[in-house]
Amino acid sequence: MTIIADRCRDIDVTVVDIKKEKIKAWNSDRLPIYEPGLEPILRSRLGKNLHFSHNVDQAIFEADCVFISVNTPTKTNGLGSGKASDLKYLEQSARRIASASKEHTIVVEKSTLPVKSAETIKTVLEALGQGKSYEVLSNPEFMAEGSAVNDLLNPDRVLIGGDSASACNQLSAVYEQWVPKEKIIKTNLWSSEMAKLASNAFLAQRVSSINALSAFCEVTGADVLEVSNAIGKDTRIGGRFLQAGPGFGGSCFRKDILNLVYLCEHYGLHEVAKYWEQVVAINEWQKQRIAKIVTEKLFNTLSGKMIAILGFAFKKNTNDCRETPAISICKYLLEEGACLKIYDPRVDEGQIQTEISRAAVNKTEKIKVNKDVYDAINGTDAILLLTEWDEFNRIDWQTVSKIMRPPSWVFDTRGVLDSDIIAKEGLKYWRLGKGDETTKTYEIR
Ligand code: UDX
Repeated sequence: MTIIADRCRDIDVTVVDIKKEKIKAWNSDRLPIYEPGLEPILRSRLGKNLHFSHNVDQAIFEADCVFISVNTPTKTNGLGSGKASDLKYLEQSARRIASASKEHTIVVEKSTLPVKSAETIKTVLEALGQGKSYEVLSNPEFMAEGSAVNDLLNPDRVLIGGDSASACNQLSAVYEQWVPKEKIIKTNLWSSEMAKLASNAFLAQRVSSINALSAFCEVTGADVLEVSNAIGKDTRIGGRFLQAGPGFGGSCFRKDILNLVYLCEHYGLHEVAKYWEQVVAINEWQKQRIAKIVTEKLFNTLSGKMIAILGFAFKKNTNDCRETPAISICKYLLEEGACLKIYDPRVDEGQIQTEISRAAVNKTEKIKVNKDVYDAINGTDAILLLTEWDEFNRIDWQTVSKIMRPPSWVFDTRGVLDSDIIAKEGLKYWRLGKGDETTKTYEIR
């Protein structure tokens, strides 16, 4: 909405939420999220044509177009528990729009939703709208955290799905103020909803594919960085989203694939459901596998051992730790008896404590969150790098070698550290998709 306000100065944008504290945070001096490049643009529009308000009904009444951007978490009980999306916030929003809107409103689904969700919105609006008219469009968002501003300013494509050509054209006109017309794709409603789920499924599938191969590389002597580079040069495959790592995290991939699986099962497409479910299964396995390798290298026991966890966010340049692989990996290490010292340049201590206490009940006294990377490393037996923050490339390994407990291990799950410098300081180095570079033997078959 900030980018729309910035690119379309003639449009008044009001962001509303039922939670007053959220709105207060967006109006305060400190934004509630870390997103590079967002703050200066937001500040330049705030109070002009960009407003944050908790007066939901008034904003709906004044709007020609309402974007629904509510969360759709995975259901935790009842029908479809563990897989289906909970659409209660979507339904509540549709009810609110039906009661507060004026005579004609375009309603846009921005949240990622199960295919056919527009049907729910239409049904609620028709039943409760008391003769007012609505047009429902799907306009899914493809931006990624950490690069959101650039993704929005220079999108690969904008997708608008809907039955009404006039409503599609009105929304398209908004984007046309900065996006070339040929990048704006118009489809029917269901294709648009499906394309969003499919995009996330394809991206997650690439990560699981390269992660599956990372394990194969480790046992054969291949190097996953070389393999990614070689396959990515094929223009049919392309080089992006081929970085092996500790597993995908974030609020979307797991949730969206499980939703896809649920829908496939619902329509009786059990083989298709199983196919996509495996993308999630490999992701879980990768996290377990990493914890197992760390345990094995530390003489099969973590009891009495101290491990420094470098990075907790699900990727660099964000403070978001929803579904971050760090949660499961820390949980497995804690279950093996380890004590953890965690450092992340952007994630608050409170966020880390909350996530760990939810995942590993009664184990929070075994973690310490440090504000300085060397404090986190001090006295540990091993370093486990989980997020690829740039600052980890500037670590002084000579200092590190003096403050760790030998034999000291460095486990690099993102393949971003310089193994030569680390090995020179007498530290043992293991890299995901390459393995332990010091003591390797291969079985030839
Ligand atoms: C994703 C989609 O990219 C975006 O289009 C959609 O709108 C929302 O979901 P996001 O969750 O912000 O965006 O992060 P993304 O950059 O896609 O990364 C997701 C996860 O995959 C991260 O944990 C990341 O570390 C991991 N990943 C990504 C890899 O492990 N390797 C890669 O090559 C790419």
